[in-house]
Amino acid sequence: MISLGPLKREDMSQLLEWRNQFPEAWRDPRPTTITQQYEWFDNIVSKSAEGRYWGVYADGVFVGQVELTSIIWEYGIGEIGLIVDPSLQGKGIGREAVRLAIKQAFEYLRLETVCGECYYCNDAWRFWRKIAIDWGAYITPLRNRKRWDNRLWDALYFSWHKGECACLY
Ligand SMILES: CC(C)(COP(=O)(O)OP(=O)(O)OC[C@H]1O[C@@H](n2cnc3c(N)ncnc32)[C@H](O)[C@@H]1OP(=O)(O)O)[C@@H](O)C(=O)NCCC(=O)NCCS
Repeated sequence: MISLGPLKREDMSQLLEWRNQFPEAWRDPRPTTITQQYEWFDNIVSKSAEGRYWGVYADGVFVGQVELTSIIWEYGIGEIGLIVDPSLQGKGIGREAVRLAIKQAFEYLRLETVCGECYYCNDAWRFWRKIAIDWGAYITPLRNRKRWDNRLWDALYFSWHKGECACLY
């Protein structure tokens, strides 16, 4: 069973190892060091008012991380981010983690919109397009969002809206 729970400091080196395998995915082009990873855990995960961060667990085993960041509480909007253990991708974990994070967003945090962006240089855009369409998101391309492999790439933007998101009903 897939569940969300608190992130643990002891899982940060594992998370960093996964994260640094997908440099094409992230907004920040700089590789993360282990010191920065612990700083992120100590200063952002437990203290940031604009973010909520969860570990993804399969029968209690740490298999991924999902987050809502850049939350603007006045507007009820937050941006989703996700990573799944590379050795366990393609088994439905990512889809379920997103569903559980959306459920948190709309039913507990009382957000109105969960949005996200995925660069087309990252094959994960196919994942987001799949679940975006399945669950009734608004989707649109965005121009020139990331420089990767010596060229500029567009991105897929998607947003789910409370009351219209099919994964909860
Ligand atoms: C993107 C990611 C989170 C997907 O997680 P996952 O657990 O592998 O995805 P799932 O197994 O839940 O896939 C859900 C659906 O998307 C489809 N899908 C997933 N990745 C896909 C890909 N690369 N190409 C085409 N379809 C894909 C699956 O076939 C599945 O379809 P189905 O539900 O109809 O069977 C994972 O690949 C990952 O961690 N990537 C690296 C980090 C990253 O890029 N994060 C996103 C940054 S924007």
